[in-house]
Amino acid sequence: MTDHIDLEDIGSNPTDNRAFHDVLDAFVSRRAVIAGGLAGAAFAFAGSKVSAKGIAPTKRTASGVAAKARPAIGFTSIPLQNSPMPTIAPEYQYSSLVPWRTRLDGKGEFPEALTSDQQAVSMGLGHDGMWYFGDNRKGMLAINFEYGTSQHALGKAEPTTLEEVRIKQHLHGVGVVYIEKGAKGWSLKKDKRNRRIHVNTPVEFSGPAAKSDLLVNTARNEPLGTINNCANGYTPWGTYLTCEENFNGYFGSTSTTWKASTEEARYGVTAAGFGYAWHKFDARFDRSQPGYANEINRFGWVVEIDPENPKAKPVKRTALGRVKHEGADVVVGKDNRVVVYMGDDERFDYVYKFVSARDYKKMIAAGKSPLDEGTLYAAKFNDDGTGSWLELSPSNPALSSWTIDKILVHTRLAADLAGATKMDRPEWVSTGADGWEYLTLTNNSNRGKSGQPTTNAANPTKENTEGHVIRWKDADSHIGTTFQWNIFFLAKEIFDEGGQMFGSPDGIWADPDGRIFIQTDGTQPGKNNDQMLVADAKTKEIKRIFTGVAGCEVTGVAVTPDRKTMFVNLQHPGDGNPAITNFPAKFTGATGPKPRDCTIVITRKDGGVIGS
Ligand code: FEO
Ligand code: CA
Ligand code: CA
Repeated sequence: MTDHIDLEDIGSNPTDNRAFHDVLDAFVSRRAVIAGGLAGAAFAFAGSKVSAKGIAPTKRTASGVAAKARPAIGFTSIPLQNSPMPTIAPEYQYSSLVPWRTRLDGKGEFPEALTSDQQAVSMGLGHDGMWYFGDNRKGMLAINFEYGTSQHALGKAEPTTLEEVRIKQHLHGVGVVYIEKGAKGWSLKKDKRNRRIHVNTPVEFSGPAAKSDLLVNTARNEPLGTINNCANGYTPWGTYLTCEENFNGYFGSTSTTWKASTEEARYGVTAAGFGYAWHKFDARFDRSQPGYANEINRFGWVVEIDPENPKAKPVKRTALGRVKHEGADVVVGKDNRVVVYMGDDERFDYVYKFVSARDYKKMIAAGKSPLDEGTLYAAKFNDDGTGSWLELSPSNPALSSWTIDKILVHTRLAADLAGATKMDRPEWVSTGADGWEYLTLTNNSNRGKSGQPTTNAANPTKENTEGHVIRWKDADSHIGTTFQWNIFFLAKEIFDEGGQMFGSPDGIWADPDGRIFIQTDGTQPGKNNDQMLVADAKTKEIKRIFTGVAGCEVTGVAVTPDRKTMFVNLQHPGDGNPAITNFPAKFTGATGPKPRDCTIVITRKDGGVIGS
């Protein structure tokens, strides 16, 4: 089942549109080109040499310079480990950057017992998806702060005051910060563009469901905030996309008679939530408050942020649907339309794509966002290695009685009716240099259990605790409604040193040279630490480049244009317990500092491209 496609054919038959990373490079000098209500800046690609055809995709680095002739993955693979400090391949080195509590004003760090006001102007917890907008020495880094446990942030099981809830709310969201490479490495510098976006930051809705009654509360409260910002995307016009994943967990009910509606149940909303306890102090998050009945519908979106304009409100792009969004990989497809690939991370949930209505440049020139008009689809993977994209609109007979705003707000239920394929927890997706989409399916221990969906060709493992990576290629340069697919890796079948190599793939990023970076979040073989691996898309050779610390997840990947600096994140090191690790401080044990989520800066000692 895994090789319908002759692997040798892939490299010789690349898609005719360029790898998106090349497009991005061409736009790196752009200033504030934001569409559809973000900054309102003029559409101009100053100094850019972009043309519709142009740069060849596979044999060039992002800077347009031919890559050196050496093996695609030339470094020494390292063993698994379970230590309190990270390890990295011997050809590489790392340093840490912007841990939790780093002040946005460049004046160091706030103390551990920080206030909610201090948390609102410093780096959050749960460093996750991110992207870097800059040149090889300086630029803006946008980082998601997915979550932090109350034990980690407050030293107690749950908040017991509104101030403690606010601390927790302010550590969630996104940080957009200016960073610079100096003599001692990269650091955050004071800059007027530095900003924090958190659960109480004003936001706006855009697209077909923006004016829907489903997004209005009788309390008439303004739309605020973003939560559980997991993976990410970035656009050819220079903006950042942050994706709201497990938003359901922040809601609960103070009333014992409250019952979840069908729609709430489909998104996993329960009276207890995930234990954040915000609903006990903040009525927005209390499902039993009639004034806030639709507050829940305001989360679960892909949110666009202009990293250059700290005054622009984040925009929730409703055309991309409302699910537990993991990531949003943007690629330029046929006719210059932008295509966004997205996973919904839940057992037996779906893969989505959005195709803009027209040429994205023309849409921006006309004052419209390419992410506001277009078609949303859910994926159906057939057992014969083909697949189709099922349109989620009233023109699909299965949804003819639905309005478009209902489809976009209750997207999971619409995709159920359309007949999408239930997957093993779709996490990140990235477009390869070969024009294929690479998607991690992290695990699904319920697959094939009694009363649960059975295996299928795209999810072939019963009780899939290891996860897999699937890939597909859409017809018609990303915009077609059919595709062919195969399985890139079943994690349980990838071995090194006589043992399984990894489990629970999550973060993924394809570089323009054909490397696939894979990050893990879950139990690793031998209960070792989470890690980052590099695979060759053509040969499937795979090596381990980095291992995190005990109790952490390795997630998020961004690069400078020359790809000689890579940023990755260590999330929840030691789960906040100093007895496990004090990272980024050296390990001194339980009496040492509490470990902190942070960014890791990776460089090759000889200054080469990361992954080589
Ligand atoms: Fe936030 Fe599915 O990981
Ligand atoms: Ca993830
Ligand atoms: Ca995960």
